Amino acid sequence: MLTKFATRHFSSTASTAYKVSVLGAAGGIGQPLSLLMKLNHKVTQLSLYDLRLGAGVATDISHIPTNSTVTGFGPEDNGLAKALDGADVVLIPAGVPRKPGMTRDDLFNTNASIVRDLAKAAADHSPNAAILVISNPVNSTVPIVAEVLKAKGVYNPKKLFGVTTLDVLRSSRFLSEVAKTNPVHEIVPVVGGHSGITIVPLISQTNHKNLPKETYDALVHRIQFGGDEVVQAKGGAGSATLSMAQAGARFAGAVLNGLAGEQDIVECSFVDSPLYKSEGVEFFSSKVTLGVDGVKQIHGLGNLTNAEEEMVNTAKETLIKNIEKGVNFVKQNP
Ligand code: NAI
Repeated sequence: MLTKFATRHFSSTASTAYKVSVLGAAGGIGQPLSLLMKLNHKVTQLSLYDLRLGAGVATDISHIPTNSTVTGFGPEDNGLAKALDGADVVLIPAGVPRKPGMTRDDLFNTNASIVRDLAKAAADHSPNAAILVISNPVNSTVPIVAEVLKAKGVYNPKKLFGVTTLDVLRSSRFLSEVAKTNPVHEIVPVVGGHSGITIVPLISQTNHKNLPKETYDALVHRIQFGGDEVVQAKGGAGSATLSMAQAGARFAGAVLNGLAGEQDIVECSFVDSPLYKSEGVEFFSSKVTLGVDGVKQIHGLGNLTNAEEEMVNTAKETLIKNIEKGVNFVKQNP
């Protein structure tokens, strides 16, 4: 059972003032995500960077009367360095989204270099920040960031996260539709990675263990490929942006709560994980307790059904390849 948002105990030394930087802030995800971060009271400095319109989005959001300053930057005048300077949390939704018929992996060629370059800047200007990667394919972009940070000598595996929260949100929503319940009360751990068959919802760990097989299979498929519904519905104009912004803001909020010393903050995330390292899977998503240093504890998967175990095995095979692709990209294009 996830204990997220349970009773919280505050550490007496915890800070509650943080600088959050959003890279790709003027995009479909970036704008609503920046808006939601402006509404988070732990954020006292919000720094918005994009190749275009960074200052415009920042000026717009800055009129909202919460207790934070908002500054926008573009690539001119060393804008990226200024946007990142001293950040506690860096959110990266920069890059191109999918069009109908594309997989997340099809985005690799464009997004790999964007994420690599932003990670280099983060290494130089905010080496202690928690870095939250949204840009797809997450299974490969997270290893890209790790390799860049390692090369720069500032890699902290406790502070690098692939944002898979949208899969968790979709699981709650889609399960509630099948079970005819309130989605607010449906909490589904989602493990593995963030693309198609690497997305493994653990329905057996909810109150709906005994769904008819057909219903279960359809539900799992919908969770794994829910992103395609949005890509198709938008007809070529992009992928999930608003639900993704909510997912990103929820995950960033949880990271901030952890940094602030709150207890029992648990979310699923794609992290440098010991769970299957011996099998060559360097990164894996599972429940993670967040703390003052980032990752505090990585949880095992718990009891799995045979079907779940099989999905995890399939996910591992794909993840090994996706991760290797990211690592090789940085080796070949440092
Ligand atoms: P978008 O095209 O609307 O916005 C991307 C923004 O990034 C644009 O404003 C663009 O100017 C900016 N950008 C591009 N290169 C940049 C650079 N080098 N530095 C700073 N900014 C740069 O795309 P959208 O819909 O916001 O999606 C962004 C990414 O998020 C895509 O890769 C998409 O696949 C991914 N995504 C991830 C999800 C997840 O669950 N992790 C869910 C949905 C999308």
